[in-house]
Amino acid sequence: MTGVGMDSLKGSKRIFILGCGGFIGSHILESLLADETIVIDGWDPDTSRLGHLLGHPRLLYRQCLFGDAGTSNGTEAAIEAADIVVNLAALCNPAEYNNNPLVTIYKNFCDILPFVELCAKHDKWLLHFSTSEVYGRTIASYLRDNDYGDPDYFEFEEDTTPLIMGPIVNQRWTYASAKQLLERVIYAYHKENGLDFTIIRPFNFFGPRMDYIPGREGNGVPRVLACFMSALLDRTPMQLVDGGKARRSILSIHDAVAAFELMLDRPDKAKGQIFNIGSRENEVTIQELAHLMRAVYADVSGDPSYKEHPIVEVSSDEFYGEGYEDCDRRVPNLDKASQLLSWTPEWSIDAILRETITYYYDLYGEGRKSKTVT
Ligand code: UGA
Repeated sequence: MTGVGMDSLKGSKRIFILGCGGFIGSHILESLLADETIVIDGWDPDTSRLGHLLGHPRLLYRQCLFGDAGTSNGTEAAIEAADIVVNLAALCNPAEYNNNPLVTIYKNFCDILPFVELCAKHDKWLLHFSTSEVYGRTIASYLRDNDYGDPDYFEFEEDTTPLIMGPIVNQRWTYASAKQLLERVIYAYHKENGLDFTIIRPFNFFGPRMDYIPGREGNGVPRVLACFMSALLDRTPMQLVDGGKARRSILSIHDAVAAFELMLDRPDKAKGQIFNIGSRENEVTIQELAHLMRAVYADVSGDPSYKEHPIVEVSSDEFYGEGYEDCDRRVPNLDKASQLLSWTPEWSIDAILRETITYYYDLYGEGRKSKTVT
């Protein structure tokens, strides 16, 4: 473990973050560590996004697996010592859901269950990052004419919208089901044992350090931003799964961190709530996203030929394998976040893509400025 001894940290607010080294966690750490009253007990096996934070005097970092999150490795003591507990540990990569369904279920449900139990046992406020994917598909997608005319058929509202998933044979839904069941466990602990909780449902956060770029930081099929980035960097075609008709609403990681900090600042408003954290303005089809990304990449790289970068269509069976099924659309209702947290997102999709693409271009593009992840 790195960081200073406990004695010199007395009087601080201690936040235990499981999974602090991922995309969201690394940005939350950066922001929280700027507050001198906060000490972070942060656990994650992966240090690749934390290089600039390791050794910080108020970060007690432990390099360990969240699969070890039972009582045996000090988790209970860490939870007991914390004022607030945050769970960010998850396996969040659609290519894994249908190809490695058991790993997906274990990492997103079974491994985290004891963690939730310990929070209930020790009366801790648990802020749990779930997913917008618990909503599954929209009602509209099941209607004969796919009618998106009525928001009641596609907009997701935390406490009223039904959660609609496809059949068991479409193993895409292992992740959403595991995350949904964990939400239900947390809610049941709240109702039966008084567990203080806040559930956050992220809607496609984008930003620097989001995912590994295949062939550079790892291998496999990451989420769409990294897939398109790698195509641009490698001058290979961007691939639109099933025509790129699915829609996503993109939120800047900085807007997301701001929402999270408002929850910490307003426990009376945030406790006992599920929050959608996303953007309503930045909605695009995946095809539109590909077009936007190649235009921004052309600007960032100074090479106008990227405006015509090739885009091809590919079937989901070919791209993800058997058992993939897509979420058609994700539009968050943000009334609760606005009313209880006074939060509204600020970043436009153009600004988000520009920041993120510049980050990856500086790391890996031709004529890049640096070679290290910061
Ligand atoms: C994933 C996770 O499953 C969610 O839990 C998580 O909330 C979300 O990412 C997120 O980032 O917040 P999803 O949006 O389906 O959900 O993941 P992506 O892999 O980013 O796919 C988005 C869309 O792009 C899908 O329609 C997919 O088929 C498509 N896609 C992906 C392409 O057309 N081409 C690619 O190269 C990659």
